[in-house]
Amino acid sequence: MINYEEFLSEVLISEDSLKKRIKELGKQISQDYVNSEDLVLVCILRGGVMFLTDIMREIKVPHAIEFMAVESYGAGSRETSGQVRISLDLNTVIQNRDVLLIEDIIDSGLTLTSVLDLLSARKPKSLEVCTLLDKFERREKKVNVKYVGFPIANKFVFGYGLDLDDLYRNLPFVGVVDEEKYRMVKSRQK
Ligand code: PRP
Repeated sequence: MINYEEFLSEVLISEDSLKKRIKELGKQISQDYVNSEDLVLVCILRGGVMFLTDIMREIKVPHAIEFMAVESYGAGSRETSGQVRISLDLNTVIQNRDVLLIEDIIDSGLTLTSVLDLLSARKPKSLEVCTLLDKFERREKKVNVKYVGFPIANKFVFGYGLDLDDLYRNLPFVGVVDEEKYRMVKSRQK
C-alpha cells in the first residue's frame, strides 16, 4: 500500500483542531437538544462513521444512533449524480423523533437533498444536519445545514473518514491530496 506521505500536500485540519471543534459542536448540540425526549443521530455510511463516534461522546443528552447507506447513480467515483437509492435503510421508525443527520462532507449537496427528502417524508419531529466539512463553493443544491465543523475550499481531501479510492479513512487528520503525485505513485504500482 502507498504511504500517504507520498501524496499528502498538506494537513488541512489537524487531529487537535478536529478534537477541539468537535467538542464545541457537541456542546452546542447538547444545549440545543437539552429538552429533546427522543434524539436520534443518523450517520450516512461510510464517511461519517469516524465523526459520529467522536461527536456522540461530546453530546451529553441521551440519544440513539442509526445508520443508513445510499448509492448514487451514474456518477464518477468522485462525484455524485443527485439521484440516490437507499442501500441500507434505518432500522427504526423516526416519526415524531428529533433526527440529526451526521455527515462527513457536503459537496454538491445533491446526496443530502435526496436523503432529506426521503427522511422528511417519514414525518420526524425535527430534522437537522451536522456536517464536519462544508465544501460550500461546490454547492449545486441549497441545503439548510445547522451545524458545520469547518467550511473548506474546493480541495481534494481525505482522512478522518473520507476515503481516497476506498483507503486512508483511518487517518486521524484531514489532508489534501496532491493529485499529480498520487497519479504518479499509483502508476508506479501497476
Ligand atoms: C460523500 C459524503 C456525502 C457525499 C457528499 O460520500 O459522505 O454523502 O459524498 O457529496 P455531495 O454533496 O456532492 O452529494 P461518498 O459518496 O464519497 O461515500 P462514502 O461516504 O462511502 O465515502
